[in-house]
Amino acid sequence: MQKVRVELEERSYNIMIGNGLLKDIGKTLRKFEFSNKIALISNPTVSALYGETVSGALKDSGFNLTEVLIPDGEEYKSLAYTEKIYEALLKARLDRKSALVALGGGVIGDITGFAASTYMRGIDFIQVPTTLLAQVDSSVGGKTGVNHPLGKNMIGSFWQPRLVWIDTATLETLPRREFLCGIGEVIKYGVIWDREFFEYLEKNRDKILKLDPEALTHIIQRSCEIKAEVVSKDERESGLRAILNYGHTIGHAIETITGYKKYLHGEAVGIGMYMEAKLSQQAGLIDRQEVVRIKALIDSYGLPSEMQGEMSVNDLIETMQLDKKTIGGKMHFVLPEKIGSVRIHSGITAEEIKSLQDN
Ligand code: NAD
Ligand code: GLY
Repeated sequence: MQKVRVELEERSYNIMIGNGLLKDIGKTLRKFEFSNKIALISNPTVSALYGETVSGALKDSGFNLTEVLIPDGEEYKSLAYTEKIYEALLKARLDRKSALVALGGGVIGDITGFAASTYMRGIDFIQVPTTLLAQVDSSVGGKTGVNHPLGKNMIGSFWQPRLVWIDTATLETLPRREFLCGIGEVIKYGVIWDREFFEYLEKNRDKILKLDPEALTHIIQRSCEIKAEVVSKDERESGLRAILNYGHTIGHAIETITGYKKYLHGEAVGIGMYMEAKLSQQAGLIDRQEVVRIKALIDSYGLPSEMQGEMSVNDLIETMQLDKKTIGGKMHFVLPEKIGSVRIHSGITAEEIKSLQDN
């Protein structure tokens, strides 16, 4: 089992990573000072696969367990379903020392974290992420939230989990397309922070795609270490943490324009990472060879790096201007300067984005 520590003073916590960890969660949670009543939040897809193992482990350790299922899908990451969680917790009389356990992907992790941050003014929660994206990104760092009809992730809080419990074996049942979405975020860590890790991803593609446990543990651990380091330095995204948005400024705009239907998140990020690398090259900040290598890695994992079909750059620009990352009308981009290092750039003009089309 591997351990990564997220250092945040009294809010510090461990991320534990290993193959076959789910069955040990009960014993582990017993070591915390939680009250006996805890709740397991999941969705029917994940619960059918892993619910029994986790609930069995929790009950065997003596916990009085309330189980809450949220339908599977991004549209259920909403205030209405947060209320359903509150209702179940209140009916079961969970108290201020109770904890919530989120078993699932980023949707379950985000809504559970948000419910935990507001139930009785805030109770503890544990992340048990079962998608690669959740294991390397959303379960770490304490961003929680739900969607509003007028915008994705618009309602939320910063609320750190007490523990992140990652069982790499859960990835065996994850649809391949979802797995690759997580790889998009893993590649992101290489580009923004660690050239050696980027090279590891180049050299070990076959092992990773075959879900070799050692390779999986390594990429999850390294990704979590990088995210932990960034979050420890800037928990509330007043500066450095924004580098985690590499590929996301354009990626989010692509998701919005295509109505969240054509591309999954990690696929839109794949396209965003290449377009933002090209923006950087246009601005003279990075060598062409580096950009070619970034595109080659994205492509080699079977992620898209370019939009298919018609794209109106004007739509893209307009959408980015509405994004919550746009502050005072200025679009902020995370631009790579070389593989392993990025800078935040606010001086990119609409004209420069338009000229991406011709390159
Ligand atoms: P998801 O939670 O919708 O999971 C994807 C699909 O995989 C779902 O159908 C789910 O039921 C299924 N699934 C999950 N684990 C499985 C398994 N082991 N085997 C088989 N199927 C499984 O999507 P996601 O990509 O994990 O997360 C996306 C969400 O995360 C978005 O809402 C996004 O906003 C959020 N997010 C949050 C942060 C953050 O910092 N809080 C960061 C990135 C993304
Ligand atoms: N996913 C970006 C962040 O957690 O800051």
